[in-house]
Amino acid sequence: MSKVTVVGAGHVGEMTTYYLSEMDLAELVVIDIVEDMPQGKALDMYEGTPVRGSDTKVRGTNDWADIQGSDIVVVTAGLARKPGMSRDDLQKKNAEIIGDICTQIKERAPDAHVVMVTNPLDVMAYHAYKVTGFPANRVVGMAGVLDSTRFRSFIAMELNVSVLDVQAMVLGGHGDSMVPMVRHATVGGIPVTELIPKDRLEEIVQRTRMGGGEIVKLLKTGSAYYAPAASAAQMVDSILKNRRRILPCAAHLSGQYGMSDIYLGVPVILGANGVEEIIELDLTPEETEALKRSGEAVATQVKLL
Ligand code: NAI
Ligand code: 2OP
Repeated sequence: MSKVTVVGAGHVGEMTTYYLSEMDLAELVVIDIVEDMPQGKALDMYEGTPVRGSDTKVRGTNDWADIQGSDIVVVTAGLARKPGMSRDDLQKKNAEIIGDICTQIKERAPDAHVVMVTNPLDVMAYHAYKVTGFPANRVVGMAGVLDSTRFRSFIAMELNVSVLDVQAMVLGGHGDSMVPMVRHATVGGIPVTELIPKDRLEEIVQRTRMGGGEIVKLLKTGSAYYAPAASAAQMVDSILKNRRRILPCAAHLSGQYGMSDIYLGVPVILGANGVEEIIELDLTPEETEALKRSGEAVATQVKLL
């Protein structure tokens, strides 16, 4: 049986654990620094499995020894931005937390894949790559799947069609500079540009870019977690089952798209070896420019590390 650890039993961590438990993929461990809380959430989840018909073992812990033998560690631990805290302050704080966690992963689960979720995502994925010293294919960031699922949902809402028929991807960094790929979006195989007028599409692109903020505004006390957790769980599934799905993920670039030594959202084949391959699309000059700008924004943040 495979083993997956979720670090952080907050909103995203608990939902990721929950989705994974419903998928019957692996034995699950969820770890947090808050005493007893992960134990309580895991026990509650496990107590539901007989009714849900899932056979998954879920265990909560505060002890890093319990992550030993993990095939995948999903990292969702961190602070959310508080009033008066700048983006840079938040990055500094989360970098400390991720640094400690990745040191534990390196020592106790040296063969694991790391799926980073904590924000600022592209920077934290890079930080995890550096701290663990793991090969780049085993450290990947979740953001593109989330931004793309938002883009796909908005397209389905606009056309009043099933989300299942909408394929679309968002590349670049997980922030205002992300790059929703309109030219590659299709609905039932039909280019979305043939179904939605250009100005409406531009509004949908803008809504996608602001998708995280839209949820924060509505929730008032936190950020999104259902769609983020579903996205992280899909990545875990693709790795554990060696599905080789093509998903937009934050991956380490070494020359692809003209960028090096940076984590940025690009289409990858995600399989048993993690990032099996980065797919290099033939982009238009405008798309190339937008991706480059997004990479520059991430690189500026990385310098603050
Ligand atoms: P939350 O505040 O509900 O949960 C964070 C949890 O991390 C807390 O339970 C806290 O006790 C725990 N934690 C803090 N330090 C820890 C440590 N050293 N070891 C273990 N656990 C520790 O926050 P939420 O909503 O779950 O978000 C978590 C992170 O995910 C945030 O950084 C958020 O911005 C990010 N996020 C990223 C997304 C993406 O697309 N990449 C999407 C949604 C959230
Ligand atoms: C989101 O996009 C907060 O990064 C998080 O919802």
